[in-house]
Amino acid sequence: MGQVVAKQVSKNLARPDSGPFGWLVARKFLQLNKVLEVNAVKVCDIQPDDKVLEVGFGPGLGLQAAYKRVKDGKGEVHGIEISERMLKMAEGSLSQEILAKKVQLKFCSVKKLPYDPNYFDKIFHVNCYYFWPDLDMAMQELQRVIKPQGKLVTTLNLERLKEVKSKNMMQCGNFDPDRYMKALERNGFTNIKMADIKDKIAFQSITATANKN
Ligand SMILES: C[S@@+](CC[C@H](N)C(=O)[O-])C[C@H]1O[C@@H](n2cnc3c(N)ncnc32)[C@H](O)[C@@H]1O
Repeated sequence: MGQVVAKQVSKNLARPDSGPFGWLVARKFLQLNKVLEVNAVKVCDIQPDDKVLEVGFGPGLGLQAAYKRVKDGKGEVHGIEISERMLKMAEGSLSQEILAKKVQLKFCSVKKLPYDPNYFDKIFHVNCYYFWPDLDMAMQELQRVIKPQGKLVTTLNLERLKEVKSKNMMQCGNFDPDRYMKALERNGFTNIKMADIKDKIAFQSITATANKN
């Protein structure tokens, strides 16, 4: 029984489906990850005219925080997801913003992004790179769509991730931050930094700058 649950949770962390485990992990995202999403937006330092992308937005809390930063400017918030459940959930909570065309959501993977080159000023993702099937392919796509000197941000709670792994619930992902930072470097990102942050809980951010020279 324990192993069946661990396998189901692992699968649904990577891509929440329409079943009961998808429902359960979506509730956990709402309860536990708001602080990471809000702080990813803060670290991005989003300006009112920025074009912003979130990869793997889950329930949409980061999109909401990003929208607040661009609502009075010319900025746009975009998001992509591979989970229909998460897409529907975020579409529900952001219906007004979507109607106003300030938020645009798409069902697609980071490995092939439906955006023009050099489109985004800022890109962020939270609890997501662990599940990308090919980090290099993802980084190359992110490099393509981000502007020169654009900022890429992720936030993560290493302590909690280690706990999840110890319970065998990270069977579909690899959160190793060194692996992620080496992939950033290999694919032309510079100024790569990992920092400790405290805001209610202690967690980490990894930031990088797109270098297109
Ligand atoms: C652990 S959840 C995190 C959700 C949210 N960011 C949070 O922290 O609460 C990972 C999310 O990334 C999405 N995801 C996984 N692989 C992806 C990919 N290749 N491209 C886009 N989204 C992906 C999943 O569907 C899932 O909703």
